Amino acid sequence: MTESLDAEAGSERLPLTSAVQGIGGLLPADITGPEALRQQLGGLGYLADDGLATAAYLGMRLSRPLLLEGEAGTGKTALAAALAQLLGAPLVRLQCYEGIDATQALYDWDFPRQLLHLRASEAAANAGAAAGAAGAAGGSAPLEADRLEGELYSRRFLLARPLLQALETSPCVLLIDEVDRADDEFEAFLLEVLSEYSVSVPELGTLRAPVPPVVVLTSNRTRELHDALKRRCFYHWLDHPAFAREVEIVRVRLPHVSEQLARQVTAAVQALRREDLLKPPGVAETLDWAAALTVLGAERLDADLVARTLGSVLKYREDQQRAASLDLQAVLTGA
Ligand SMILES: Nc1ncnc2c1ncn2[C@@H]1O[C@H](COP(=O)(O)OP(=O)(O)O)[C@@H](O)[C@H]1O
Ligand SMILES: [Mg+2]
Repeated sequence: MTESLDAEAGSERLPLTSAVQGIGGLLPADITGPEALRQQLGGLGYLADDGLATAAYLGMRLSRPLLLEGEAGTGKTALAAALAQLLGAPLVRLQCYEGIDATQALYDWDFPRQLLHLRASEAAANAGAAAGAAGAAGGSAPLEADRLEGELYSRRFLLARPLLQALETSPCVLLIDEVDRADDEFEAFLLEVLSEYSVSVPELGTLRAPVPPVVVLTSNRTRELHDALKRRCFYHWLDHPAFAREVEIVRVRLPHVSEQLARQVTAAVQALRREDLLKPPGVAETLDWAAALTVLGAERLDADLVARTLGSVLKYREDQQRAASLDLQAVLTGA
């Protein structure tokens, strides 16, 4: 692991331009533009529209993190996974949450192992001293405090959290998921890491990825992100897909679902999204619903089936009550 890192204690950091060059080089040669990227993602079961394909292509070519914002279930996380698959690079995921900090995102010292090592070294030193005292030659093996401390704070005892893992796993796709859940301070910290693609560990020096990762940040927009972070990224807003695309997504993801059922489920979900619901269903819910109906052996959807299987789509009682008061029959017949 350590070999893949440039550990340069006290050395000067590379200027940004040279630090980030090379990300675009990860793109396969046959991806010559957004359309080629869209097609290749499609081959992997991820159906991007032109806007998203262009954003992803430019993000990679310009070596910019891609910031995807949009409602839950619009395919933000799935895009990062599809890009990793396409690039043949591992996906390293940092799931953000309230209160996340650098030790959970970057690295931490493995305290229990450090303690064990310390104890073992002490025991070895004591045994050496006892043997020395008993032996004819005399003299003890003193515990070399400095050397021991150096050992304790070596890479061996460093626990790599996702951000450091991403710098060490080069090249890779780094997904920083749901960044809106983290707080302002963490965002500022992220900005620093994304500026340099290197981290400074006081005891070890600067650790830098030889090839910076392809970075995808996602946000469900539960709060606004800072302009400074946005400025660094290529930004794209993901809407719920249009009817035809969503039907296609269901057909690609769940090939055993009939065309008729896919169309009806999608039409019903899209009708529900037009209502003022607490939690509008995303593509994930469309897929879940279609899968649930297939398990029940349904070939087509009717009002009775909707009522019985609504738990796949709406997870708030108020939303279910609202749906029950709707007449979806026309929507289902028309699909
Ligand atoms: N454009 C798409 N093509 C294929 N699958 C999609 C697409 N958009 C969403 N999905 C599927 O919908 C589900 C939810 O997507 P996800 O990426 O988790 O949403 P988000 O991260 O935006 O909340 C996943 O199973 C994903 O595979
Ligand atoms: Mg997600």
